[in-house]
Amino acid sequence: MNEPQLSKKIPIVTERDVVVARVEAKKMAQTMGFSSSDATQIAVVVSELGRNIIHYAGEGSVTLIPKARERSFKVVAQDHGPGIPDIKLALTPGYSTAQGLGRGLSGSKALMDEFGIESVVGAGTMVTAVKYLY
Ligand SMILES: Nc1ncnc2c1ncn2[C@@H]1O[C@H](COP(=O)(O)OP(=O)(O)OP(=O)(O)O)[C@@H](O)[C@H]1O
Ligand SMILES: [Mg+2]
Repeated sequence: MNEPQLSKKIPIVTERDVVVARVEAKKMAQTMGFSSSDATQIAVVVSELGRNIIHYAGEGSVTLIPKARERSFKVVAQDHGPGIPDIKLALTPGYSTAQGLGRGLSGSKALMDEFGIESVVGAGTMVTAVKYLY
């Protein structure tokens, strides 16, 4: 096992912050021992969730949580935006309210071992995603 690392909460306000979070996620995952391709998958998820924050909520945060003892890497994306009225629908590939590809959430779920969305309309959204180090 590599050196233990602290969690990092990254405020997401501009596209540049999404890039910072993506780069940081890849670096932290690799430091934990994830392969380059697994670390890239985590980075892609951070990027998709970060883009959604900018696009739908305006701003929020992404917290990167490496848990060496559990051999897991957790990503928590939070915002106080409009919320998601129908989570099942939002996870359907191709569904988008913004003429996007509608692949961000469904694709992110497929790349991770655990994936959950909690959302309250008018209050915000919290997406939690975990990948295990095998
Ligand atoms: N943080 C969020 N707050 C509110 N709604 C969201 C949020 N994230 C996703 N959504 C809703 O879920 C839908 C699906 O999101 P998803 O990321 O899968 O696709 P998309 O953003 O529309 O397109 P793309 O494939 O480019 O990401 C969005 O169109 C939007 O309606
Ligand atoms: Mg998206």
